[in-house]
Amino acid sequence: MHSELLDAWSRFVSRPGHPFTIPGHKQRSGEIWPELGEVNQGDVPLFGGLAPVKTAVSALATAEARTAVRWGADWCRYSTGGSTHANQVLALAVGSPGDEVLVARNAHRSVLSGLLLAGLTPRWISPAVTDGLITGITPAQLRSAVAEWPAARALFLVEPSYLGTLSDRESLIEIAHAAGLAVVVDQAWGAHLGFHPSLPPHALSLGADALVTSAHKNLPAYSQASLVLARTERLSADRLERAFDLSFTTSPAGSILASTDAAVTLLDSEIGRGLLGELVESVAAARTRLRAAGLEVPGPDTHSIDPTKLVIRLPGGGLEIEQDLIAAGLAPEQADETTLIPILTLLDRPSDIERLVEVVLRRKGTPSRPKGQSLTAEWALPPAPMTPRDAFFARTSTVPASDAIGRISAEVIAPYPPGVPVLVPGEEITASTIDLLQAAAAAGVRIAYAADPTLATFQVVEGR
Ligand SMILES: Cc1ncc(COP(=O)(O)O)c(C=O)c1O
Repeated sequence: MHSELLDAWSRFVSRPGHPFTIPGHKQRSGEIWPELGEVNQGDVPLFGGLAPVKTAVSALATAEARTAVRWGADWCRYSTGGSTHANQVLALAVGSPGDEVLVARNAHRSVLSGLLLAGLTPRWISPAVTDGLITGITPAQLRSAVAEWPAARALFLVEPSYLGTLSDRESLIEIAHAAGLAVVVDQAWGAHLGFHPSLPPHALSLGADALVTSAHKNLPAYSQASLVLARTERLSADRLERAFDLSFTTSPAGSILASTDAAVTLLDSEIGRGLLGELVESVAAARTRLRAAGLEVPGPDTHSIDPTKLVIRLPGGGLEIEQDLIAAGLAPEQADETTLIPILTLLDRPSDIERLVEVVLRRKGTPSRPKGQSLTAEWALPPAPMTPRDAFFARTSTVPASDAIGRISAEVIAPYPPGVPVLVPGEEITASTIDLLQAAAAAGVRIAYAADPTLATFQVVEGR
């Protein structure tokens, strides 16, 4: 396997010389503080590290162009700002301030921040949620949203969801295109999709116009490594480029870029495919064992779901199992009373996954509390008297929950799972919204993004 950026990184760390460039650690902070030296050791800038300052942009562009080909895209950039930055780039690229866009309500906070920066007005489509598991927005929902909002410019989807589930993406893309919408897919959790015959295809191969994916989530890349890829039939290459550069650091970490390039090289190699195949098999075996012990574990046989995703539903006791896992050195990415989500990638060996399953089965989850109240498809979106952008720029204050009813939210609040925001800035806080959130919190569900996750107080727009 060969990655030019990784080779460049390697050359620099083995013979850095004494560059009179940033970063200021000059690869010699270990001389005064060994641990600082170690942590700075692998930090190589793009400019003056991976390539001379004057040619670095074209060295990076060459690697990005090769990656675009791997996904069948016309345009690709590597971000060191995570999928958060990548989602913001796409929001800045699809329209103009004041435009409407259709957005699946399980959008990540970063999509919302992109809409806010770009001044786009979201018209939400609520994904169906069955027993805490998002099953996606349906073609029928999209058809009626398109009819209701004919001026919308783009459709924003999250595929797969945080829980690995996938909608009928092909139909959604077809409907959106027929209505003249560009389709932007946040595939943060699916960098590996489309790179093994046992895996569902990635969104670009199904016709989407743009895709964001976190190389650091499912691939062996540095934290913050992300990719943004696009086709330029419905999106402008020039606007994409300007949107990216507008919001990107001018001092990118070459180490992150080199690891991104190497990770995608690995992904698209025989070794990568072999590891992905092994991962699919190990997760299937884990699912079988967990199900045999009576646990509910959604899989490709029961849902449209990424086969490498392991979502373990428990009768309760999830937080105790999390403690067992942490004690065993196997900390999961997400745990609440009733759901456990370990992140599994092509770097997990079958024996690692077996160890994880052993620890879960030792306790198996003991019913400790009533099952967390799930959002359902019938959950009604609250009225939105302000746009997210107006609510963001308004003066805000913090009020007790009892005084928040009837006020306008200044914050995003999303119970995870399923990761559907119950409130976004600009929406009215209703009594039923507060009840729903408090019931989820009482059942041990993580209340993400809220300034006060205990929900004792809420951030609201002042004077409204
Ligand atoms: C669906 C989704 N999109 C985007 C992001 C942001 O990704 P990053 O952490 O790479 O900025 C996340 C983070 O978890 C996410 O879950």
